[in-house]
Amino acid sequence: MYKTKISGVGHYVPDNVVTNEDLSKIMDTNDAWITERTGIKERRFAGPADSPSSMGTKAALVALERAGIDKNEIDFIVFATLSPDYYFPGPGVLVQEQLGIKEVGALDVRNQCSGFVYGLSVADQFIKTGMYKNILLIGSELHSGGLDMTTRGRGVSVIFGDGAGAVVLSRANEGEEGILSTHMHSEGKYAEELALIAPNTARWVPTIMENNDPDDISYYPYMNGNFVFKHAVVRFAEVIQEALVANSKKIEDIDLLIPHQANLRISQFIQKKMALRDDQVYNNIMRYGNTTAASIPIAMSEAWEKGKLKRGDTVCLAAFGSGFTWASALLKF
Ligand code: UT7
Repeated sequence: MYKTKISGVGHYVPDNVVTNEDLSKIMDTNDAWITERTGIKERRFAGPADSPSSMGTKAALVALERAGIDKNEIDFIVFATLSPDYYFPGPGVLVQEQLGIKEVGALDVRNQCSGFVYGLSVADQFIKTGMYKNILLIGSELHSGGLDMTTRGRGVSVIFGDGAGAVVLSRANEGEEGILSTHMHSEGKYAEELALIAPNTARWVPTIMENNDPDDISYYPYMNGNFVFKHAVVRFAEVIQEALVANSKKIEDIDLLIPHQANLRISQFIQKKMALRDDQVYNNIMRYGNTTAASIPIAMSEAWEKGKLKRGDTVCLAAFGSGFTWASALLKF
């Protein structure tokens, strides 16, 4: 069995900064509420030239450069998103085209907030078995175009932001460390507690248009916020613990926990519950909002740029979200 290392990290966020103050001009919300409940101060919204795939490609180019790997050495692409360019095909193939690389396989992962960690686990298996040597893993989201930006949708729309992160995963050299383990879970009975229901195969676009119901909000994301929050804090802690136990490590062995940036209050709750110091947890939701599958790779890339994520660090990644799905990874960076 080979080992998988992260050879490069990169991210891209659109230039357009949208503050809480900006949102309060278009809906009944305010900076105090958003800050108190979520920790978010601002987020990025995509411009006309941005798409989930183009943002992913930009993040990927940064990750490739930092990895020192030519794009033509990539053997496989994994793309995690809940906001694809098209209903189908998924954005993985679009990245293959935008990068202008040979006809490698491109896989799309549909696991929302846990998508990046699920994608990491999938890529890890391909590298461990020797099937592929270098895999490009992207998490990218363009939420802003699909949110209900009225007071009706404020419980969801103030949370989410746009952006992309990418990592290059490579076969580790003899003696090098890398991904230690990954852990994935789901609980489908709560699928509709955090979901975007339509259009779907039972309620296709013509049906929605025919009814033309202004109160039909099935094509906006729905979140039972309190319910999701309560499950998130339990599952985050469980799945981090699972990763530690699987590797006979203790909480103090973690140099950096990078939780999916769902809500700063969730991250703080986990930090307190697990008795982690401030320098052991990386959060950036204050600046980007919740970018779903992109949040962990954006945070990894930013932490690396700031010198907070260093070679040799023991890093724990953990995520929870729609599905419900949750997952973790423990790795030596
Ligand atoms: O990444 C995927 C996983 N997602 C999560 O983990 C999110 C988990 N959930 C949360 O982060 C929180 O539940 C929210 C931040 C989404 C909401 O916070 P909350 O403390 O659960 O608020 P709430 O939904 O219970 O709403 C409390 C009040 C309501 O007013 P009333 O009924 O008490 O009068 C809402 O109408 O706050 C009101 N409200 C707002 N007020 C100002 C809801 N959204 C807003 C808003 N601005 N944006």
